[in-house]
Amino acid sequence: VKLQDVKKITVLGAGIMGSGIAEVCARGNYKVHMTDLTSELTSRGLEKIKTSLAKAIEKGRITKENANATVTNIKVTTDMREACRDTSMVIEATPEELELKKRIFKQLDDLCPREAILATNTSGIMVTDIAAATTRPELVIGIHFFNPAPVMKLIEIVRGTLTSDETYNFSVDFCRKLGKVPVPVNDSPGFFTTRYIASCITEAIRLFEHGIANIKDIDTMSKLAFNWPLGPFELADFVGLDTLLHILEYLFREIGDPRYAAPLTLKKLVKSGFLGSPTTKAGSKGGFYEYYQISRE
Ligand SMILES: NC(=O)c1ccc[n+]([C@@H]2O[C@H](COP(=O)([O-])OP(=O)(O)OC[C@H]3O[C@@H](n4cnc5c(N)ncnc54)[C@H](O)[C@@H]3O)[C@@H](O)[C@H]2O)c1
Repeated sequence: VKLQDVKKITVLGAGIMGSGIAEVCARGNYKVHMTDLTSELTSRGLEKIKTSLAKAIEKGRITKENANATVTNIKVTTDMREACRDTSMVIEATPEELELKKRIFKQLDDLCPREAILATNTSGIMVTDIAAATTRPELVIGIHFFNPAPVMKLIEIVRGTLTSDETYNFSVDFCRKLGKVPVPVNDSPGFFTTRYIASCITEAIRLFEHGIANIKDIDTMSKLAFNWPLGPFELADFVGLDTLLHILEYLFREIGDPRYAAPLTLKKLVKSGFLGSPTTKAGSKGGFYEYYQISRE
């Protein structure tokens, strides 16, 4: 596929990342088809996009006309076959589970045009593993956006073992056209960014479990000492605790280093339905802040 020939982009998943990625692509003047399992989920995703666009207008980043054009560029559907028809490129943003992603990529391989690029927004599952579920590993690549996708500049570009130079070059140009900064990394569990931040967040949870400091104070110290915009617990709630748990379980299984073993507190919260910040995460009872009844002020 050539960048100028891209007619349609398919975004799989209308959750935190899928809706953000759909917005970014639509703002870049691409026609986007965003899918999820139910129409409630696609509508929720579309609402998130509208809220995000309203914020961008308020901040003077885009005009009202841009926002309207963006919404017009997005179609939502629960029909994967329809979403994949005539697509130039898929960006998959479904839950962080290897078996699920493999199943989805096999389906995409069957449903998408032969030359379509199949990208995954996985936070850390090896692209080589996902690509192996298809008959076109040369067209599979990791395009790892950060949350919130419309705001964050970095995109980690992950080359699988068999990703072709054409697919890599296309992806770099595509990200630049969206106004992002693509940085290439080699395939490995967690790539660079996820492996690094997972160990920081995990360490913060363990220090809390050891009684060194409380959640709010750890966040305050991280922000004031290191100039982080969010503390590790705020970041965990924002990312989604289930996503974080999936990432840690995968890193621990693949790398075998106990520093990636999921902390007990995180497991307990996820098993009890505390999946992260209720404002961003569908169906969540809350995150660390809600469970421990800490004020976010
Ligand atoms: N949350 C973050 O900060 C973040 C950042 C970068 C990357 N990621 C990665 O992005 C991916 C998505 O994460 P998220 O936070 O958006 O999760 P999420 O739970 O908010 O959204 C995932 C969505 O995928 C939908 N889905 C499940 N199966 C599907 C299918 N077969 N077809 C279409 N949709 C399907 C779910 O219903 C859900 O709405 C994960 O791989 C995650 O690791 C997340």
